[in-house]
Parts: sequence; structure tokens; C-alpha cells
Amino acid sequence: DTGYITLDDGYGNTGSCKSKITYIDGDAGVLRYRGIPIEELAEKSTFIESAYLVIFGKLPTVEERDRFAGLLMENAMIDEGMKKHFEAFPPSTHPMAITSAMVNLISGYEPEDMIINSEQEFEEAAAKLMSKVRTIAAASYKASIGEPIVYPRYDLRYAENFLHMMFTKPYKAYEPTPAVSRALNLFLLLHADHEQNCSTSTVRMVASSQANIFASCSAGVNALWGPRHGGANQAVIEMLEQIRDSDMDVKEYVRKVKNKEDGIKLMGFGHRVYRNFDPRSKILRKAADEMFDELEMTDPLLDIAQELADVALSDDYFVERKLYPNVDFYSGMILRAMGIPLNMFTVMFAIGRMPGWIANWKEINDDPKGRIYRPRQVYVGPTDQHWVLREER
Ligand code: SDX
Repeated sequence: DTGYITLDDGYGNTGSCKSKITYIDGDAGVLRYRGIPIEELAEKSTFIESAYLVIFGKLPTVEERDRFAGLLMENAMIDEGMKKHFEAFPPSTHPMAITSAMVNLISGYEPEDMIINSEQEFEEAAAKLMSKVRTIAAASYKASIGEPIVYPRYDLRYAENFLHMMFTKPYKAYEPTPAVSRALNLFLLLHADHEQNCSTSTVRMVASSQANIFASCSAGVNALWGPRHGGANQAVIEMLEQIRDSDMDVKEYVRKVKNKEDGIKLMGFGHRVYRNFDPRSKILRKAADEMFDELEMTDPLLDIAQELADVALSDDYFVERKLYPNVDFYSGMILRAMGIPLNMFTVMFAIGRMPGWIANWKEINDDPKGRIYRPRQVYVGPTDQHWVLREER
């Protein structure tokens, strides 16, 4: 009776869909990409190799990886015509608005029909999306600070190239440290896919109409933007900064959350599926510690975050509601330590999630019996109404 809609997956089943990409056991805190636990991938793999696994369903051979890496290199540049759009966006435009607009615009440089007719064309489209979303993100940052867009280098790997395009100055090249490269690879890898989350379901919904891959993934960027979803990584830092700047005691903030004052929530906490812990937050917490140690850095926000987590995890309000740190709770610390600007945090999530969106788009398009998604609803509005004269309204 709440007007709640269910997602009819086109198979006549409501509220669920079938997928072979990612498996989550929310109670046990299990997350697997194509059956491989993320703990193994986090320790042994890279973002590009794991992205290949998510997209193509298997770990790449040396030849496959080299081919895909070559396609990523070939597609790292954005069309020179696209650069003009960055000059037209108002300086205050949020990078997520730019990213979704420019991802959509990639289709403007594609053949008219943009129909993907072969595995090779799909692989090229996947490489285009993964490579160009990174260049678009860095270009949006450069445009926002009034600096010239930095072109990709052809001697750098995926994550390092992004950092180069973000932070190289006209007077000084940026060379990432191994610790930063490792942390960025891990951040992106842990965001690569996550079953039927809001943005991935959006991509599937749009893909089910047979919209092209660029339009479908652009829709995913928009769904991710919200603070309940990918926007939470930015909101976590804003929450921690608010606590730091207000000199508020952490316990006082938690009390406000429990009283639902101003509707505030503990950002970076809670998850629809994980009911004990988000395995990604555990890995990111450890990575943040290691990165800070290696870079001999400290961040007072990390201390506040840990105190907040300790207080919340020992409080019945959060335990009863099964609220635990999720992927966004610690991820922001890593991005901050890299010098990623706060308003780019959710764009970083989008870069990481692109392989998952691509894989889900393909899964919809590969289904020979695929049908358009058409969520069902329970109608709770007025019935049997009639038009009346304006004077009588
Ligand atoms: C991501 O789905 C995915 O997989 C997403 C994601 C991915 O990889 O794609 O994992 C990424 O989006 C992670 C979530 C990031 N969002 C946040 O951190 C924002 C804060 N979290 C909440 O907004 C919330 O926990 C959600 C949106 C994540 C989940 O919301 P649900 O499952 O709809 O839970 P709910 O809103 O129904 O809350 C149930 C109860 C309520 O209290 P009561 O009405 O029972 O008294 O728990 C409370 C809520 O008020 N609650 C919180 C809370 N989250 C839920 N209270 C305080 N702080 C919170 N964070």
C-alpha cells in the first residue's frame, strides 16, 4: 500500500533479475566478481585485469590483456571537438553533471546507428568508455581550475595516466608514488561492480530499451550521483569536516543521528544488502592505514572517522538496524590523501564502476529473450474522479 514498485525483469519475475556477473552474500559479507572473492583480487589483481574479468567473464590471458590495454591506450584521447564543451560548462558545474553529459556525447563521434554487431566492436566500445571516462573526469577538473587540459601519456598505465592528467602542471610533470598508484588501483577495483545497486539497475533499465551503451552508462552516472548512493563518499568527508570544524563531540553527533535531527544520517554507514559488514570497507580501511604509513601522512578526519565507527558500532541503535561502515566510509580518506578534490569523489566512483555498468549492459543485450524493463506498481491514487468547472474547484 505504499505505491512501492517492483522491477519486473522481463522474465515475469518481479523484484529480481538474473545475472552472472557479481555475487553478494549480505549476511556473510561476501562479494565475488565472476565467482572470484574480492579479497583475492584486491591482493593479486589490478583494476584493469579485474575490469576485464567483470566485463568478459574471465581473467585475461597475456595476449587478451595486452590487446585490451592497447585499446585503452588508443582510446585515451577525447575528440578535440569535445574539448569545446568544457569551456561552455559554468565553472561551478559539478563534475558528475559534466561526466554524464560527456559520456553521453561520446556517441556523437560514433557511427550513426551505434549498433554493436560483434564481440570486437563491443570490446572497442568497452575500452572507449573505460578510457575516455577517465580522460573526461581529469579534463573536467582541469577546466574547473582554469588550467589547460592535459593529454594522456602513452607510457603510463591506466591509474597513473589518470593521475598524470589530473595533476601534471604546465611547469611540472606529476609522477605518482607506488603507494598512490596501488591505492588508486585498489579503490577502482573495489568499485568495479556490485550486483543490482541503484546505478547498475538504472543501466539495465535503460539498456533494456535497446538504448546504446554510451546513453545507458551516462544514465548510470546520474543515478550514482545521489548522496544515498555514490554521492555518499563526498558526503562522508563533508560530515567529518562538519564534526571537526564544529568541535562537536563525536558522541554528540551520533546522538543527533539517533534522534534523526534534521534527518541527518551517518554517511558511509548502512547498506541495503550487507547486514554485518561491507567487505570493501574492511579492505579500504587497511589500505588507508598502509598508505598513510607509507606516505608518512596523517589525516585528522581518519581519526574522527574511526572514533565515529567505534561509537556507532557499540550503540544498539546502529547494531539493531544492522548499520555498519560501507564502501564509502573509508574510501574518501584514500582519495583525500591522493589530493583528489572533494567534488571529484563520486566521479572516481563512476570511473571504478564503469566496468560493471558495461558488463550489465552487455548482459541485457546478449539475452535473446530480452524484453524491455517495465516495473509494476501498486496504484494508491484517487479513483473515479471527474472534470469540474473552474468556478467549482
Ligand atoms: C552505496 O546498493 C549498493 O550496492 C550500493 C553500493 C554500491 O557499491 O553500488 O554499495 C554503494 O551506495 C553504499 C551506500 C552509500 N550511502 C550512504 O552511506 C548513505 C547513508 N546510508 C543510508 O542512506 C542507507 O543506509 C542506505 C541508503 C545505504 C540504505 O538504506 P535502506 O536499506 O533503504 O535503509 P533504510 O533507509 O530503510 O533505513 C532503515 C533504518 C531507518 O531507521 P528506522 O526508520 O527503522 O528508525 O535504518 C536507519 C533509517 O533511518 N538508517 C540510518 C542510516 N541508514 C539507515 N540511520 C543513520 N545513519 C544511516 N546511515
